[in-house]
Amino acid sequence: MKGMIFNVLEEMVIEKLGMAAWNTLLTEHAPPGRVYVSAKNYDDSELFALAAAVANTLNLPLADVVRAFGHYLFQGLAERHIDVVQRFANFNELVMGIHNVIHVEVNKLYVDPALPTIRCEQLSDTQIKMIYQSPRKLCLCAEGLLYGAAEYYQHTIHIQHDQCMHQGATHCELVIERQDV
Ligand code: HEM
Repeated sequence: MKGMIFNVLEEMVIEKLGMAAWNTLLTEHAPPGRVYVSAKNYDDSELFALAAAVANTLNLPLADVVRAFGHYLFQGLAERHIDVVQRFANFNELVMGIHNVIHVEVNKLYVDPALPTIRCEQLSDTQIKMIYQSPRKLCLCAEGLLYGAAEYYQHTIHIQHDQCMHQGATHCELVIERQDV
């Protein structure tokens, strides 16, 4: 994963738990002397170890922390790439554009990014079906990102995630429903 993802995790931990907590997490769960540089790649296992340590510190299930991180991450990505986000007039357009617009731009901006395969189908004005597949199985982070995107457009959404890679499926199926209409 890119250092930028770790930078956003750092911001979230400092905001919620303070600088001392982040320094302790780094000392105990990252390689010695680690500094995360935005455009550089780091092993996925480092992010998972830090996320697990955050869950442990807060005494929360890892799934909740990954989802909360995804939610926080959307704002972090939007701040760093506002030109990309501003191309979309609304929530539906952004979600429909994740794979073929947003992550295509990410591929141009970064060397060798670790991106999922995402396919979306608009079921109605208020419902989108998303198929998610990635060797990293960060579907709960995807859920959080969707909640973050909904908040960005001041919508409330509900996500039904019946089929999941964590339960042995080849891909995840998420049905995103806007509820504020
Ligand atoms: C709701 C909208 C979005 C969803 C659901 C989504 C989904 C994801 C997921 C789940 C990952 C983790 C990697 C994996 O699963 O294999 C990821 C990575 C990433 N996404 Fe998105 N994304 C969204 C919006 C954005 C936006 C707005 C940007 C920035 C313009 C962005 C840039 C990136 C970058 C830079 C990475 C990390 C690449 C790396 O670490 O190598 N995404 N995305």
